[in-house]
Amino acid sequence: MEQRSDAILSVRDLSVSYGHIPVLRGVSLEVRRGEIVVLLGANGAGKTTLMETILGVTPPDAGSVSFEGRDSTRGPVDRNVRDGMTLVPEGRGVFASMSVLDNLLLGAHHELKGVDKKLALAFDAFPVLAQRKTQLAGTLSGGERQMLAIARALMSTPRLILVDEPSIGLAPIMVAAIFDILVKLNREGYSILLSEQHVYRALKCAHRAYVLESGRVIREGRAEILLRDPLIRSVYLGV
Ligand SMILES: Nc1ncnc2c1ncn2[C@@H]1O[C@H](COP(=O)(O)OP(=O)(O)O)[C@@H](O)[C@H]1O
Ligand SMILES: [Mg+2]
Repeated sequence: MEQRSDAILSVRDLSVSYGHIPVLRGVSLEVRRGEIVVLLGANGAGKTTLMETILGVTPPDAGSVSFEGRDSTRGPVDRNVRDGMTLVPEGRGVFASMSVLDNLLLGAHHELKGVDKKLALAFDAFPVLAQRKTQLAGTLSGGERQMLAIARALMSTPRLILVDEPSIGLAPIMVAAIFDILVKLNREGYSILLSEQHVYRALKCAHRAYVLESGRVIREGRAEILLRDPLIRSVYLGV
């Protein structure tokens, strides 16, 4: 596949296995600057593995990942984060016994210069976190914890944000709020790779999408076209 010059992230023929069990089998995808790209797929399809490989957590067997032209698969994760990509992990990953403020400060640990300004931006984007900044993260609602996880990711001043199933376990109104936040962040200039099982909502807010099944990309294209794709409609939307 031809590499487009406007790609911020370019994944080529990526294969990953755990032990002898292949999990990703030749996955290629790209995120162009300014896009929200959604990665759809059922449990076990390989979404989290793909995100962790992009971030440099899990080494690939074959293939490449290029973030702004540099290979990100050899890690260390910290260097990739410093270089401008970040992951909002599945299950949020906030530290329950730490305050909201300390969770946010952790997100900026690699570069504390200008941290007051970063905090001000995070509280601006998430006023509810400002109200709760001295509270322990464990006392937040699920939706607030997801907001904290996203805000913490922003503290590293990323250009690309990987967001792994942010809507898991949230009430529908909170799911809608999280999608609104991601769309707003995207309009502010962040490029986003989002994995989701809320297929309809995700396709509504994304520019393009890839469907992952058993570690392979089985469909890709513009989100509004995939919304009309008969396979997607029958398997994922149940219509
Ligand atoms: N650390 C691991 N060790 C072994 N197998 C794993 C590990 N993590 C995930 N898997 C397996 O890899 C496959 C893909 O998992 P995952 O990437 O978590 O998919 P998804 O995020 O789409 O649910 C699944 O079959 C899962 O059981
Ligand atoms: Mg997952």
